[in-house]
Amino acid sequence: MSKRDFISLADYSSKDIATILKLAHQLKNNPDKKSKLLKGKSIALIFQKPSNRTRVSFETGIFQLGGNAIYLAPDDISLGKREPTADIARTLSRYVGGIVARVFHHQDLIELSKYSTVPVINALSDLSHPCQVLADIMTVEEKFGKLKGLKMAYIGDGNNMTNSLMVACAKVGMHISVATPKGYEPDAGYTQKALAYAKETGSKISLLHDPRQAAQNADVLYTDTWVSMGQEEETAERFKDFDGYQIDSKLASLASKKHIFMHCLPAHRGQEVSADVIDGKHSVIFDEAENRLHVQKAIMVFLYTK
Ligand code: CP
Ligand code: NVA
Repeated sequence: MSKRDFISLADYSSKDIATILKLAHQLKNNPDKKSKLLKGKSIALIFQKPSNRTRVSFETGIFQLGGNAIYLAPDDISLGKREPTADIARTLSRYVGGIVARVFHHQDLIELSKYSTVPVINALSDLSHPCQVLADIMTVEEKFGKLKGLKMAYIGDGNNMTNSLMVACAKVGMHISVATPKGYEPDAGYTQKALAYAKETGSKISLLHDPRQAAQNADVLYTDTWVSMGQEEETAERFKDFDGYQIDSKLASLASKKHIFMHCLPAHRGQEVSADVIDGKHSVIFDEAENRLHVQKAIMVFLYTK
């Protein structure tokens, strides 16, 4: 049987995304459903970077589906250092039913996918974070009862989250205005893909530099850290460059009165977001975090029942 991976939302049709989201809502409302799907299977969790939400929600989700999670910390298998990534993929495929991987270089996911005979799930790379973004889209759907035509404003660093958010919004028919400092725009390849999908769904994608313009009438305000994992050496320079890009209550007042505030976490109060906004009444950050569990269970159900 041929396997299917979950590396990028770009590989998933709008219909597949709708199917996974529907499943996620069902699993959230009826937690016992399909709980034996991973019975007798182990899933390897390869993490090259730290994690709270991703690791714990995957381990919990695998447990709830009847499977066994094997966490592999950065020094355990030393992806690409101790032995070639291709050999790791081929070896693990002889033991486990799936691989979940958080990597520094997206190319390592492609390599794992190429040589693995079991499904590979992207748990974050330098280029994308599709599990997080699908949980975010599920959260938007819960809060507004729809997706099509809603406007998201993403303000801050054009990073892995931005790349995945643009593709996801385009696939589900949401509009997205991205405001970054010059030089911090999202990846050009993801932008081109998102623009192409947007044409099909009627979504509008704008790349801007003015946070106020982006926030105008937004239904969803989104931001992420200014310094992603692996960029720690650039911290001082980034703090200078991102001055003026914080989502604070003044900026949030430009959004729709019923807007929600989102952040994938971990967050830095006083940097990309003010404490009163992230801890205020519009914030849905812990619903997003919870939905990681439901959406990832739905992704696994989808991959293993295809
Ligand atoms: N949002 C997210 O992926 O969190 P962790 O880095 O804690 O897994
Ligand atoms: N952009 C952040 C997301 C963390 C979940 C990072 O890559 O560190």
